[in-house]
Amino acid sequence: KMKLAVLTSGGDSAGMNAVVRAVVKAAILKGCETYVVREGYEGLVRGNSDECKTEKVSGSKGQEDSLLNNLRFGDGELLKDGTSDHPTGRTLRGRYIVRVGWDDVRGWFAQGGTLIGTARSMTFKTVEGRLNAAHNLIKEGIDAIAVCGGDGSLTGADVFRAEWPKLVSDLQAQGRITAEQAKQHGHLKIVGMVGSIDNDMSMTDMTIGAPTALHRICEAIDNIDSTASSHSRAFVLEVMGRHCGWLALMGGVSGGADYILLPERPPTVDSWEDQMCDLIKGHRDAGKRKSIVIVAEGAHDKNLKPIHADYVKDVLTERLGLDTRVTTLGHTQRGGRPCAMDRILPTLQGVEAVDALLDATPDTPSYMIGIQNGRIVRVPLMEAVKMTHSVAEAIKVKDFDKAMSLRDPEFVE
Ligand code: F6P
Repeated sequence: KMKLAVLTSGGDSAGMNAVVRAVVKAAILKGCETYVVREGYEGLVRGNSDECKTEKVSGSKGQEDSLLNNLRFGDGELLKDGTSDHPTGRTLRGRYIVRVGWDDVRGWFAQGGTLIGTARSMTFKTVEGRLNAAHNLIKEGIDAIAVCGGDGSLTGADVFRAEWPKLVSDLQAQGRITAEQAKQHGHLKIVGMVGSIDNDMSMTDMTIGAPTALHRICEAIDNIDSTASSHSRAFVLEVMGRHCGWLALMGGVSGGADYILLPERPPTVDSWEDQMCDLIKGHRDAGKRKSIVIVAEGAHDKNLKPIHADYVKDVLTERLGLDTRVTTLGHTQRGGRPCAMDRILPTLQGVEAVDALLDATPDTPSYMIGIQNGRIVRVPLMEAVKMTHSVAEAIKVKDFDKAMSLRDPEFVE
């Protein structure tokens, strides 16, 4: 019986809970024992302290010894020092790898953020940390993990898998696991799903959380539109997306922006300021009462000089005399209820992820589950990560055509 754990890592995104729900339910249906790891890789490193034994509680399918319903998720005390006493009297001290069942994840597809927590773990980046993580998994008998996170989190999973045989033999040499345990857990199975609002991963058309973030931006533009129109104002909206302009571009298209500034495709003209002002003046002359400019947080000009929303505001104010305001959407784009697509995509991918873990052999590569042309696909995880990094490299050397064609191989000017 495969024992499988699911964790969320890196920045949260809408749809992560739906991933956990889908993985847990699909795995139970396929006869696996299911666990969640709280607080991302940090939870793997911390594991379960020995005095913390799983109690038997009654429940339905796969739920027999689950404690999850009794944990207080999001409770800062749990994360700060790993200790907390639950009101029921159960000791939850140092419990990060938790057995879960069917009922634990009921209704999770509709919840924002990640209920099992996420963290940017520094300790997992050290060999010592990964050694503890391997030990904690072996103690629980787990040798398959599904990770939902960004490219850094998925790379971490692949490194862990590659290093696993050495970690196991070191643990045995240190007397922390038996020869029998080492033999039983010779191979770690991993699978990745991309949780990122930025839609910044290559080899998948959509990342989990991006559709919801886009809806937020679209709604925000609608809201701003009416007030901008009333006062005949200009608004500069800064949207998230780190190195990726997908949210800015699609948000701008869905909300009818006048001008959009992206990292992958900076304006090629000598003065984008002139270009922007000419366009907006043209729109105003044609009778438009409001102007909207979208700036991706990673936007820059063709010489890689960062373009900030405040600077855009100054240009519009000084050159066109427009009464201009700046709105930074920030984390309102990331939190909140997932839209339908961020329930469907994680559900389909979670089911495929379990199948990929069940099929995995030491010779198969680590897979990332993606979606291409409407079909759920398995792609070699490190190939996708490498291609994603190449976009950043291309931007760094100002090869913007290459950046665009890496984002979309069919891209034409
Ligand atoms: O990658 C997701 C993202 O929301 C980016 O769009 C943004 O740049 C970053 O995370 C913000 O990170 P933090 O929540 O740590 O400020």
